[in-house]
Amino acid sequence: MAHTESNMQVQPYNLMAHAFLLFLLFSCITSTNIHACKHTERSSLLSFASTISSPPLNWTSLDCCRWKGITCNQDGWVTHLLLPSKGLKGGLSPSSLGNLTHLTHLNLSHNSLLGSLETKLFLSLNNLEILDLSYNLLSGELPLSLPSSNIWTIDLSSNHFFGAIPSSFFQQASNLTSFNVSNNTFTGLLDFSSNLFNGNLAPGLGKCSELQVFRAGHNNLSGLLPEDIYNATKLEEISLPLNSLHGSISDKIVNLTNLAILDLYINQLSGKLPLNLGKLSKLKFVTLDFNHLEGALPPSLMNCTNLLELRLGSNNLEGDISMLDFSRLNNLLNLT
Ligand SMILES: *[C@@H]1O[C@H](CO)[C@@H](O)[C@H](O)[C@H]1NC(C)=O
Ligand SMILES: *[C@@H]1O[C@H](CO)[C@@H](O)[C@H](O)[C@H]1NC(C)=O
Ligand SMILES: *[C@@H]1O[C@H](CO)[C@@H](O)[C@H](O)[C@H]1NC(C)=O
Ligand SMILES: *[C@@H]1O[C@H](CO)[C@@H](O)[C@H](O)[C@H]1NC(C)=O
Ligand SMILES: *[C@@H]1O[C@H](CO)[C@@H](O)[C@H](O)[C@H]1NC(C)=O
Ligand SMILES: *[C@@H]1O[C@H](CO)[C@@H](O)[C@H](O)[C@H]1NC(C)=O
Ligand SMILES: *[C@@H]1O[C@H](CO)[C@@H](O)[C@H](O)[C@H]1NC(C)=O
Ligand SMILES: *[C@@H]1O[C@H](CO)[C@@H](O)[C@H](O)[C@H]1NC(C)=O
Ligand SMILES: *[C@@H]1O[C@H](CO)[C@@H](O)[C@H](O)[C@H]1NC(C)=O
Ligand SMILES: *[C@@H]1O[C@H](CO)[C@@H](O)[C@H](O)[C@H]1NC(C)=O
Repeated sequence: MAHTESNMQVQPYNLMAHAFLLFLLFSCITSTNIHACKHTERSSLLSFASTISSPPLNWTSLDCCRWKGITCNQDGWVTHLLLPSKGLKGGLSPSSLGNLTHLTHLNLSHNSLLGSLETKLFLSLNNLEILDLSYNLLSGELPLSLPSSNIWTIDLSSNHFFGAIPSSFFQQASNLTSFNVSNNTFTGLLDFSSNLFNGNLAPGLGKCSELQVFRAGHNNLSGLLPEDIYNATKLEEISLPLNSLHGSISDKIVNLTNLAILDLYINQLSGKLPLNLGKLSKLKFVTLDFNHLEGALPPSLMNCTNLLELRLGSNNLEGDISMLDFSRLNNLLNLT
């Protein structure tokens, strides 16, 4: 009996020891796999949440890295804040968002965010790669610059931004591939002529050597089509329709050998079309209708075998588009 009793005492003791070892093992695994958020990051996020009103975000647990919309890096710094279409209302405060210094992805599109984007907000977001604030109610002028040289996508489209697009905005944007500020209420210039930030002349778009998409249509942009746009030689799309841009399209456009979309309909553009436009063999969509273009139709366009749509109507161009022989362009769908 005594023998059995001692056995029965040993067994629970063994079980407890095993359980303790398992517990140690488990906490080891969890502490290497799950990186609890930093206390300061948590308070920045809570401060952000307190400045906006929204349906409950349920940001209550201790570890903010597990909150919906949040991703952290290995060290517990918040890298992603993704809350598109979450019914957020209110302003973006530099003192909360601006403290998330490791943020790489910020997507708050399709909400009801109000107010302006303060330059101060971005001063410490040096790691930002993607910024999507499209479809909100943001207004005011664009900040003077984005600090992050890592940024490659900016979508501020469908808001109520106004004023000029300052050339200084692009100062650090050497990695920028996509810039969309379509459908705002800019009433100012497409201002690449002066650099408000440091007084230098016009670096602007010329610095955007990686830019592939430039969209700023449906605004009230006036002024000339900026000359340094022709330096952004990776451009595949220039979409600036429904503005008041004037001046002519420069011969330098042939340097944009990747250009597939040239969308400038409803503007005040004048002068002749570059005769060598057709050297841009990747062109697919050329929509230049409703401008004041004059002179001859460039015969070189007959060589653009990728052309799907060519709209040149409602200009003062000589001759008729039917004079050109587009028989080699099998895919051309829309010709006006
Ligand atoms: C953000 O950082 C500033 C400066 O370090 C600090 O004063 C402020 O309290 C921080 N805000 C939050 C919400 O943590
Ligand atoms: C928060 O939790 C409530 C109740 O469970 C839920 O209805 C709501 O969708 C959650 N909010 C988010 C942002 O997940
Ligand atoms: C932002 O989120 C929306 C909704 O998920 C998505 O459609 C959009 O592509 C995102 N923006 C970027 C720049 O990734
Ligand atoms: C552009 O991004 C790459 C990483 O994608 C980075 O290594 C490089 O430093 C960035 N360029 C600039 C000028 O910051
Ligand atoms: C740019 O913004 C406009 C208006 O919000 C939108 O229709 C379009 O799809 C956007 N383009 C890209 C490439 O995201
Ligand atoms: C333009 O923006 C308004 C809101 O500012 C939005 O309702 C509308 O759908 C947008 N248009 C396009 C083409 O995206
Ligand atoms: C467009 O800009 C002009 C001045 O450049 C201004 O008079 C006009 O009211 C603006 N239009 C809209 C719709 O904002
Ligand atoms: C554009 O490129 C030309 C020659 O490649 C150069 O002389 C000029 O300074 C560039 N302009 C800008 C604004 O970068
Ligand atoms: C366009 O390319 C030509 C030849 O490559 C070069 O001489 C000229 O400076 C370029 N223009 C611009 C604006 O980059
Ligand atoms: C079309 O391309 C060919 C071959 O590159 C060239 O010889 C011809 O001059 C071009 N035609 C026009 C009208 O530019």
